[in-house]
Amino acid sequence: MAVHYLQTTPLMIVIYLIFTRQTSATTEEFRVSVPENVAVGQAIFTLPRTQLRDKAELPCTKMDGDPHFRFNVTKNCTILVANPLDWSVESAYLLNIHRGLYSTSVEVQLTDVMGYPPVYNETCETPTNPKGRVSNLLFSFTSSEEVLTTNGDVLYIKQRWKDDFFHGNTYDPWRADTNNSDCTFHLATYTTWADTLITLKDIYDNGVRQPTCSVGSDNHDLLGELFWTLRDDESRLQKYPKSIGSIVNDMRARENFILFLTCIFHGRDAKLYSCNFPTFLHPPVRAFHGNARIEIASIEYADIEVRPIGCPIGKYGFFCNKNCICKNGARCHGFNGACKCAPGWKGVACDIPKPDVSITTTPSDPRQIYTSRNVAFHCRAHNLDTKVMSLRFPNGSEKLVSGENHMSVLVANIQLEDSGYYICVVLDKDGLTLNASMALDVHCLSNRKGADCHELCDCLQGASCDRRAGCVCPPGWTGTRCQTKCPRGTYGKDCTKRCSCQNEASCSPSGGRCNCTDGWYGNNCGKPCPSGLFGWRCQQPCVCKNNATCNNVDGSCTCVTPWTGRYCDQLQTSRDQPLLEILIPLGSLVLLVAIVTTILFKTGFLAYSVPDTGEEEKILFELRRMEQDLAQTLQPGWLGRWEKKARHLTPGPLIGEGMFGKVRRAQLRTAGGQLDLDVAAKAVRVEDAQSYRDFYREAAILVAVHQVQGQDDNDRNESNIVRLVGLITKSAEKYILLEYAPKGDLLGFLRGIKNNNQEYLLENLLGYAVHVARALQELERLRIAHRDVAARNVLITADDVAKLADFGLARDVYATTQYVRANRPGLDELLPLKWMALESIETGEYTCQSDVWSFGVLLWEIATLGQDPCYDGRMQLTFLQMVGVLRQGIRMNRPPECPEDLYRLMRACWRDVPATRPTPEGIEKRLLQLRRALLPPEAIQIETAL
Ligand SMILES: *[C@@H]1O[C@H](CO)[C@@H](O)[C@H](O)[C@H]1NC(C)=O
Ligand SMILES: *[C@@H]1O[C@H](CO)[C@@H](O)[C@H](O)[C@H]1NC(C)=O
Ligand SMILES: *[C@@H]1O[C@H](CO)[C@@H](O)[C@H](O)[C@H]1NC(C)=O
Ligand SMILES: *[C@@H]1O[C@H](CO)[C@@H](O)[C@H](O)[C@H]1NC(C)=O
Ligand SMILES: *[C@@H]1O[C@H](CO)[C@@H](O)[C@H](O)[C@H]1NC(C)=O
Repeated sequence: MAVHYLQTTPLMIVIYLIFTRQTSATTEEFRVSVPENVAVGQAIFTLPRTQLRDKAELPCTKMDGDPHFRFNVTKNCTILVANPLDWSVESAYLLNIHRGLYSTSVEVQLTDVMGYPPVYNETCETPTNPKGRVSNLLFSFTSSEEVLTTNGDVLYIKQRWKDDFFHGNTYDPWRADTNNSDCTFHLATYTTWADTLITLKDIYDNGVRQPTCSVGSDNHDLLGELFWTLRDDESRLQKYPKSIGSIVNDMRARENFILFLTCIFHGRDAKLYSCNFPTFLHPPVRAFHGNARIEIASIEYADIEVRPIGCPIGKYGFFCNKNCICKNGARCHGFNGACKCAPGWKGVACDIPKPDVSITTTPSDPRQIYTSRNVAFHCRAHNLDTKVMSLRFPNGSEKLVSGENHMSVLVANIQLEDSGYYICVVLDKDGLTLNASMALDVHCLSNRKGADCHELCDCLQGASCDRRAGCVCPPGWTGTRCQTKCPRGTYGKDCTKRCSCQNEASCSPSGGRCNCTDGWYGNNCGKPCPSGLFGWRCQQPCVCKNNATCNNVDGSCTCVTPWTGRYCDQLQTSRDQPLLEILIPLGSLVLLVAIVTTILFKTGFLAYSVPDTGEEEKILFELRRMEQDLAQTLQPGWLGRWEKKARHLTPGPLIGEGMFGKVRRAQLRTAGGQLDLDVAAKAVRVEDAQSYRDFYREAAILVAVHQVQGQDDNDRNESNIVRLVGLITKSAEKYILLEYAPKGDLLGFLRGIKNNNQEYLLENLLGYAVHVARALQELERLRIAHRDVAARNVLITADDVAKLADFGLARDVYATTQYVRANRPGLDELLPLKWMALESIETGEYTCQSDVWSFGVLLWEIATLGQDPCYDGRMQLTFLQMVGVLRQGIRMNRPPECPEDLYRLMRACWRDVPATRPTPEGIEKRLLQLRRALLPPEAIQIETAL
């Protein structure tokens, strides 16, 4: 049991006072019994009033019988504890209090208290952390998990549990209890966070009450426990120390979860614990991964690394928030503050001198003592009146001095045969003999071994060279020079531990965690990637089409007839004569190809294969048919200039997902190789002609926009179109790499606004609208239509700049429900009907003016803080209904609290005749005016400066 020795409250101390006798007029005697762990500052005795009589006015002055200043006496004759007491050092004191001529004798008897003084247990000694801060913890925790989501994604999550995790960020503050008698520490907390509660409940519902975690095949020594307070068995709770178990009482009133964590710690090395969970979670566990909501179908493994860090000097406890009492160079134990005294001191706080002898060397680090070094031995007598001091060498010889308390002996050019016991013996003037000894093991000069240090070690892997054993290999390595990796299936020191990794996986040298090869995952790497994924940790999506099976290792496709080609997206008949490849060079036949391919696209038959050569040409050809202006803007080599290497991209968590593509946060290694750039990587499954076109259209627009920006850099340094970082077109999966916008999209931002002072918000939000209006001007100059201006396609950067993104490509990525399937002959795509201009719906024609219409809808979204557009009181309208509504002149209503002027601007954007709608430039001017009208006068100055 853990006892908090120095925090005992005064009430718990039993002080009793025995009046013994009154022998003479000048001497009184009292006896006091006090537990040895009485707190410093505590009063243990006051002279009873009845005894004061005529002496009452005399102050108490002096006290004898207390050579080591354990007590103070106050003027009114109260004895206080001034320094920590220790029964084993001094079990009784006979104190004499003086008052004028009178003296009172008080015998203080200490009683032994179980578990006091705290034991310094070397087994679980932690390092000290001189650079640490008080909020640091004695240990650091890092967890890594591999989970399979219900979507079939394999996620690998590694995180350090930051200190604030324990100080009450996600949970209520943790309680901790460290115990030195068995080297355990216990932790407990509960949470009031709804999200965390949901996850815990799901885990609990899967029957996970006690996941045990073990190191390799060793005993379980990390135990987690999950309690549901009102349902769980009380007896399970009983085994926890009161100090942390009290959390249950705090909680009893609430239905809530309590987490307990118990760890047995010994040795100074970090340990990797593997925790067990059920293979399949049912129901799936709902959790957050970054900002994404995920459902976990199985936890393949969960590892926790516990690493002792140590507290700053003078502090101890799990949170390093308790003060050490150790004095005179004593070391304070991280678990319980027990002191390990330096020679010459004793007592619970090492503040009582003790007769002692010590022997030390220079250099003090035994590893630094190797052949041919000069080594000094120091013999010291502490608190002794030395008569003779001698140092005995291993060979039996001896060196003596008399009357000195210190002696240093230098051994020059030390050799192996100087190894052995060095003993310092002190005889004091009272005839007392004390000694101290040390075993010295002389090492060979670095990198040498053998009986006479003639052999070379030449260890690899940074291994140290031992005189007798040769190279002492780090875990995972073996061989005389540590040149060999542990044989497959083994790991650890001397390769003595066994791991069972399958499919060619290696296991990590110290923890034995399997490192799967491409295409496999799971605890033992026994599971092939879930369908649709391949590669290392199953992080790459397959691109095989038409029911082809995808190889879990390299993503290659095995087609079903009649499909063929690398991605099984070509019909067998077209294989012999890839239309584009042979026809494009034959200039005169271009027209024919155009006609043929148009027909094929229309009917959805031809899907592209994407060979590497001439890609740019082909895309241009395709783009020209769509947008002549765009195609003309592009300079030769435009595609290649932006190409990045797929292997430089490290995909991270999913931040958006849809039917045709996924957006992941990712890291891109830059040319220098030093820096990893945060990017949003849009991965596209180039399924068919439509997505192929969309992909290259977006790529081309972004390249065109950046080309223009490159030319007139001074014009405006910040574009309001999302910044292109690069393209990856030469791999199976194609990517557009964009700047990462940490604040997400405008729609999510609007919907997340809690403040209901709408007018105030409107002023601020109009700033974003101004940014989008500027983006439209940029596009207008390039004569490019965006086609999908909407709040969901506007991103907010870290600097609070709104940027237009998503040029039609990921149209289902953020919000599928906002697109309606167009049931128009020859057209099968999802369309953002409620954002579309009348003419776009009717004829499929997109212009800068139709973008202005959509911009009007975006303003409406801002004014309603992200509501779904609603016409005629109806949320869902079919294609034909929409045309009908708009043709009748019906437009969306003015949102409540929307300023009249702003609504007028929206209505102008929704005019039937495109040419009568305001221009993007006009819109910007109007918005700035509106904002000025809304802003308080002092803010205008700043606004104009922008
Ligand atoms: C005891 O007395 C010393 C000096 O007289 C003082 O510094 C110290 O604070 C006192 N200790 C207590 C616990 O009162
Ligand atoms: C003795 O004096 C201290 C202050 O110095 C006071 O707090 C305490 O109550 C006094 N005790 C008695 C018994 O008078
Ligand atoms: C120190 O901890 C170990 C490990 O739990 C235990 O076996 C041992 O008894 C402890 N020693 C002392 C002196 O308490
Ligand atoms: C896992 O294996 C890969 C190669 O298969 C290697 O690059 C990587 O460093 C290994 N990771 C660890 C932690 O051993
Ligand atoms: C894929 O196979 C399933 C059944 O095996 C079938 O229902 C489906 O139509 C096939 N899809 C394609 C594109 O061939």
